[in-house]
Amino acid sequence: AEDGYDLWLRYPPLEKDIRDQYRPQLQRLVIPKSEQSPTLKAIERELVRGVGGLLERRPVIEERISGDGFVLVATPQSSRDVRAQNFPLKALGEEGYLIRATTIRGHKGTVVTANSERGLLYGSFHLLRLLQTRSALEGVNIETRPQIGLRVLNHWDNLDRSVERGYAGQSIWDWWNLPDILDPRYTDYARANAAIGVNGTVLNNVNASADSLTPRYLAKAAALADVFRPYGIRVYLSARFSAPVEIGGLDTADPKSSAVQRWWNEKAEEIYRYIPDFGGFLVKANSEGQPGPQDYGRNHAEGANLLARALKPHGGVVMWRAFVYQQDNPEDRAKQAYSDFVPLDGQFDDNVIVQVKNGPIDFQPREPFHPMFGAMPKTPLMMEFQITKEYLGFASHLAYLGPMYEEVLRADTFAAGPGSTVAKVIDGSLHGHRLTGIAGVANIGSDRDWSGSTFNQANWYVFGRMAWDPRLSAEEVARDWLKITFSDNPVLLETGLDMMLASHQAVVDYMTPLGLAHLMATGHHYGPGPWVSDLARPEWNPAYYHRADKYGIGFDRTREGSNAVAQYAPAVAARFASRNDVGDGLLLWFHHLPWDHPMPSGRDLWQELVHRYDRGVASAQALQNQWRSLEPLIDPERFDKTARLLAVQAREAKWWRDASIAYFQSVSKRELPRGSAKPE
Ligand code: GCU
Repeated sequence: AEDGYDLWLRYPPLEKDIRDQYRPQLQRLVIPKSEQSPTLKAIERELVRGVGGLLERRPVIEERISGDGFVLVATPQSSRDVRAQNFPLKALGEEGYLIRATTIRGHKGTVVTANSERGLLYGSFHLLRLLQTRSALEGVNIETRPQIGLRVLNHWDNLDRSVERGYAGQSIWDWWNLPDILDPRYTDYARANAAIGVNGTVLNNVNASADSLTPRYLAKAAALADVFRPYGIRVYLSARFSAPVEIGGLDTADPKSSAVQRWWNEKAEEIYRYIPDFGGFLVKANSEGQPGPQDYGRNHAEGANLLARALKPHGGVVMWRAFVYQQDNPEDRAKQAYSDFVPLDGQFDDNVIVQVKNGPIDFQPREPFHPMFGAMPKTPLMMEFQITKEYLGFASHLAYLGPMYEEVLRADTFAAGPGSTVAKVIDGSLHGHRLTGIAGVANIGSDRDWSGSTFNQANWYVFGRMAWDPRLSAEEVARDWLKITFSDNPVLLETGLDMMLASHQAVVDYMTPLGLAHLMATGHHYGPGPWVSDLARPEWNPAYYHRADKYGIGFDRTREGSNAVAQYAPAVAARFASRNDVGDGLLLWFHHLPWDHPMPSGRDLWQELVHRYDRGVASAQALQNQWRSLEPLIDPERFDKTARLLAVQAREAKWWRDASIAYFQSVSKRELPRGSAKPE
């Protein structure tokens, strides 16, 4: 049965005509290897399984090429045949690869080559992807290397197996039984990640327990690292800043204390004894009640450097999060991270990378790009996307996040003139950084299908693909994913693509249209709560964000308001500050406008708001209908679960619309526009 477990590692037989074309091209597998190489073994296992499944014929394994239809997977060091070809591998770095149709000693076949076994691994998965997407092997000539160095999943997994903002069951890390029992799922997790180029994983929640750094848990993390290593995946841990006090017996965690520095140095040495290729720490400090350097009057750079110095001799990095906003700070929450961090530019050690959420608030359905991108030229900044949909309907609603990632990555910061995209900030090219990274807060759990729904898998997938190449379009990735996940039936592809590409905007429309944000119910963030205004911390109240009253709605972030626009480069600031140029998508993020403000559509703002809610509901219904039309083309199990979830979404889109409009109408006191849908 199709239960979704296989993700993009599905290798069912291809259509007969396609299979017949491929078979002569993939008869023999040649992978010269030394006994000791777990990565090469993993490659062989995957290719045998993949090619064997897709073509319904196992390739023969050969030591040397003996005929046509070979796939040679080798580095120049491991194969004389590869060496003889003099492939241009220099530019491919440690992880890139080349896939090329070629003739060797008179035999025709395909070569996958790279500078390292990791490159071969990625190249082999790419070869399988070519088959899964029915791409021609004749004349194939692919050269690619990742644009970003650290491509990391962040698991917000707790040691009791609960998952913060996780909607797909419990943590897949079975801490209790680790390190003795190694669930085969860990290997499948590593395969799935390697297939899309993810090369790191932070195992535990950013709201970290110091216990994760104790020997008991280090042994467990080490066992996972051993499983992941052949797949090129490094393990990282979230570190709790107060660990020296909590598990170290010190009476301070002050970065200026030499006892504290010594403690972290020794802790790092200990960790590297367990995990020789440990990646480093992810740290949430002085944020939402977490301990941090500011508890001792020190700044974020002093805190980050404390840990960085401990990791430095071992080659580890610190990913220091910029998700900060302070209790009782009257400054617009959207401005606080920038205010805290930008003055520290140049003060971070060279193995620190600052991890910045895509937008300045918190993973809302739509936000402008974070103003820190481009604003700290001397500091490497990495992107933090959320894959799990905390504010977009959890695992139940369909929202393909590719278009949202694309929008952010392609946004122009103008930091060094036009064309200074966010992608160029995080790939290091804009300011010449070699340490580069991107993180995705995982949507992975113990559910059979890993992510709570088939379509949620696409968000994990697109994260990995765009992390490798931030210039990819959401559409091309969605097309690959649909082919791999379902089939290449043209009707399915067209409808599926339509659904995926419309889905994010649909959610924006029925939850937070026109640049509104943070209207979700308190605590769990599922469902509407725009009326909430009495929470102790003002910036947790939806009313703080929408500022709706009798006269109008929206957050004035222009010079007349919080002046958050000034944190962007002048060209961007001018656009955001202009009601006419900012665009509908972020209008109320930056502007407080009267209800009768005229919109380009000819409606006034109130009518437009209602229209957007209606449009969102209509889109959710369209998703449901489109899916229904695909029933004959999809296996019953995945069809049915998806259909049921889409029914939930269509119902809840109305809930969002009706509750939100009812509330906003109670403050605007305006009539519902004629022709808008009546609440049910
Ligand atoms: C959000 C989320 C929290 C999480 C925090 C973070 O605020 O609701 O659960 O801990 O982000 O990113 O640290």
